[in-house]
Parts: sequence; C-alpha cells; structure tokens
Amino acid sequence: MTGNKIRTGVIGHPVSHSKSPLIHGYWLKAHGLDGSFEAVDIPCENLEAGIKDLVEQGYRGFNVTIPHKESIMALCDEIDETAQQIGAVNTVTIDDGTLKGSNVDAFGFTENIRSQQPDFSFASGAVVVLGAGGAAKAVVHGLLEHGTPEIFLVNRTKERALILANSSIAPDKINIIDWEKRSKILEGASMLVNTTSLGMKGQDELEIDLSLLPRDALVNDIVYHPLHTDLLVSAEKGGHRVITGIGMLLHQARLAFKTWHGVMPDITPELEDMVQK
Ligand code: ATR
Repeated sequence: MTGNKIRTGVIGHPVSHSKSPLIHGYWLKAHGLDGSFEAVDIPCENLEAGIKDLVEQGYRGFNVTIPHKESIMALCDEIDETAQQIGAVNTVTIDDGTLKGSNVDAFGFTENIRSQQPDFSFASGAVVVLGAGGAAKAVVHGLLEHGTPEIFLVNRTKERALILANSSIAPDKINIIDWEKRSKILEGASMLVNTTSLGMKGQDELEIDLSLLPRDALVNDIVYHPLHTDLLVSAEKGGHRVITGIGMLLHQARLAFKTWHGVMPDITPELEDMVQK
C-alpha cells in the first residue's frame, strides 16, 4: 500500500479548511521525503477510535486542531512541559505505539514576530492581548517565556480570562481587563495582539480605537483571512509596524515538521503565496 511512506496528518472536526496539508505537502516535496500529510476528520465521539486507527495505520504523527486540542491530552502517553503549561496539545508524535503530545503554537507565535520584526524585544514593555480562547493560551505562554513583564488580558467573558491567567506560568504578570476598556488600556503598551476571531472573514469587525497606543508599538493580528485585517490596516495608517497572522501558522508547522522528520523547513515566498490563496 504505502510501503515505508512517512504518514502524517491533521485531525479536527471540521478539518477540510486546513492549510496544513498544503504546507506539509510542499515541504515533503522540497526535502524529497517519501511521505504524506492528510486531513482526517474525526468527530468528538470517535476520537479514541480515530486515534487508534492512525496508530494502526503506522502514522508517525499528526497535528490536532479544533475541537480536540484539550481532549487529546487524556489519550497521550506523554505530554511535554510546554503543552502541559499551555494546557493543550496540537502536535502528537507516535513512537512505537506511544503517543507523545507537544504544543508548537507558542513557538509559532513568537517566531513569527521574531522573523517579521527582529528588533522587537518581548521584554521591552507591557503587551495587550485581546481574547482568552485556545490561541490566547499559546500567545500568553510565548510572551511570558520571552520575558514580557506585564500582560493586559482583555476578554469579553472575564471568567475565561481569569481561568487562563491562573493556569499560566506567571499569573502575577497578568492583569485582567474588561472588554469595554480595550482602547483605554493601550496607553504605554509595546504590542497589541488580537487572538479573537473578530475581523475574520464572515465575522464581526473588531472595534477598537488605537489612538492611545504608542506610535512605536507593534500590532499583531493572528487572524490571517483576510491577511490585512481592518485592525492591521488602521494600525498601518496610524504609523505602527504590523505583523500578519499567516506566519504563526507557518512557523508552528515548521516545528511540527521538524519533530516528525528531523529537519527544520524554510518558509519561502512561494509557500507564503500558496497559503494566502
Ligand atoms: P481560538 O481557539 O481560535 O482562540 P476560541 O477558543 O473559540 O477560539 O476563542 C475565541 C475568542 O474570540 C474568545 O476570546 C472569544 O471571547 P469569549 O471568551 O468571550 O467567547 C472571542 N470572541 C469571539 N467573538 C467575539 C465577539 N463578538 N466579541 C468579543 N470577543 C469575541
């Protein structure tokens, strides 16, 4: 059937929209590896059986996306420290039938900023994070690991922000802010990160006034469809340096690829073009 082909993939529900098959397929080809990467739709009630199936099929590993990032943890034999601290697994490696869980989202977030704005220092000041969902967990973790001294966590549902802060590696560095105060809190910040789904194609707009945000502050939207969200467009108009979201996806994929294949792939302009289409 597949011989010694290295089988990898992404599990989720739904998963057909995933860009990961395109990204990993591109790198498999670029590195001349005999491998495959498939999107595997597994509904919640079939998770355990679905995973067993992948193990039996000889998969080397798989990414995990919505809605399984937390429930997969109970099925892993080992979970690395980063994934434990974030509280979610998005990459699983299968080693002799053993499932090892890790999380490459925080790396994707920080590496995207480092590559787009190499002069930015995470430790230079307070960062405002909008949202407290799954993506925010990885963003907050990445910031704290890189020495951000203070985070203002702004979420519509305050309770969710409190839970995120209390389960983080440094709750004392996180201030929970009411959603209504999101424009006011920008004063003095070194970066603003949107992790909510607002501004995504088909979703409501993110309403925020950037006038108090210092001119030299960065603005990062992890929404990448559209690539230049209204938030980034107005930030650019205000003279801010902006960081688009597609790089977070690409950089987390790099680390997952390295985990499975032992080689860190590059992001080429051709790949960026392909992913944005
Ligand atoms: P992800 O895993 O991509 O982060 P998620 O866990 O569903 O997705 O989180 C979505 C985030 O967008 C949450 O912070 C959510 O706020 P709530 O915790 O209050 O639900 C935020 N969000 C979604 N729609 C929003 C809206 N209309 N106004 C404000 N925040 C919104």
